[in-house]
Amino acid sequence: PEVTFTQPSGERITVSADVGRSLMKVAVENLVPGIVGECGGDLSCATCHVFVDVPWVAKLPPMTAEEEQMLDVTAEEPTAASRLCCQITLTEDLDGLSLHVPETQR
Ligand code: FES
Repeated sequence: PEVTFTQPSGERITVSADVGRSLMKVAVENLVPGIVGECGGDLSCATCHVFVDVPWVAKLPPMTAEEEQMLDVTAEEPTAASRLCCQITLTEDLDGLSLHVPETQR
């Protein structure tokens, strides 16, 4: 699937990755600015915060309580479209997924 990360500047970065991969790892490997993933996906850093573009919000699997808790400590104020992208695994259905990277990530 292909995923597009839009930067605060409006710059768009589209990456292509295999089904089953972690969205955070894909972003880090492709040097997407603003996605840090400091804890490596352990749900303990909140530096993989993204804003999911509205049409996609409902297509993602629901958040766990742990993810919801970690969203409280993101550098940038979370919204209803916020997710931690280490908790999103790529599937065929997510082809075309579009996200915005927050201005600050810590
Ligand atoms: Fe640390 Fe997602 S990479 S919470």
